[in-house]
Amino acid sequence: MQIDLSGRVVLVTGAGRGIGRTIAEAFAGEGSTVVALDLDPGALAALEAESIADLALTCDITDPEQVRDAVATIEERYGRLDVLINNAGINAEGPLESFDPALWDTVFAVNVRGVLNTCQAAIPLMKKQGSGRIINAASFAAIIPSVDAAAYGASKAAVVQMTRVLASELGPWGITVNAYAPGMIPTAMNGFAALDEEAAATKLDQLSLRRWGLPEDVANLCLFLAGDLSSYITGALLDVSGGKFATQDPGAAWRAL
Ligand code: NAI
Repeated sequence: MQIDLSGRVVLVTGAGRGIGRTIAEAFAGEGSTVVALDLDPGALAALEAESIADLALTCDITDPEQVRDAVATIEERYGRLDVLINNAGINAEGPLESFDPALWDTVFAVNVRGVLNTCQAAIPLMKKQGSGRIINAASFAAIIPSVDAAAYGASKAAVVQMTRVLASELGPWGITVNAYAPGMIPTAMNGFAALDEEAAATKLDQLSLRRWGLPEDVANLCLFLAGDLSSYITGALLDVSGGKFATQDPGAAWRAL
């Protein structure tokens, strides 16, 4: 059995850079028709120029009208949407006591409302087809949040619950809905790449596999969740974190070497 995703129409939000770009590349590599959404027109133009995206649309996922227009364009052009990957997300940090409420709303607008907007736009089309895959970017922060990251952790926990509810609501239409929880993948969103050796070692000590995650680690999981091999998996949160806190002190096994 092989993952065969050729000809599948796949929508990736936040495809302009980071993990989303790698997800788009992975699906293009499998022969899927990739539609890329992002805020950054320059990044989208590059995706089209490199033949990663068949269609690239500048779209703010917090705006339901822009999202509806994007899905209408997809329906008009391809007549279907097989896979929706809700990858776009933002982080904002600060202690909860003094956290700017407007910033709290912004985090939820992108990470939670954005997922609601894309799902509401895509579900009618998937129901018409009687098939579909929705794959949502949660985070390890939805399992164990970090200090100064309440807005992010709460928003990603909301994504997990939306995933579970949608999985049940859409089961009768043969649509699966899953979420994944990346651990630590150095991208422009975070400062992992800039940590000094000692700080990096402290972070890596949290991981059973003791290496930073790669965007490809997430993209590979998305390929699996989008394909026929995963057809009996729905409502799941899959941890793609290298075994983050699989035990209280994963680093102990490395120190014992
Ligand atoms: P990133 O910041 O490198 O890329 C995010 C992309 O989303 C950017 O291209 C940005 O323009 C786009 N975007 C942001 N707001 C948008 C909006 N309103 N409408 C459309 N596009 C928008 O982030 P990264 O690291 O690639 O993360 C991707 C996803 O994975 C996010 O949901 C993030 O929360 C999640 N994640 C990442 C982890 C990591 O270690 N990098 C860990 C856990 C979760």
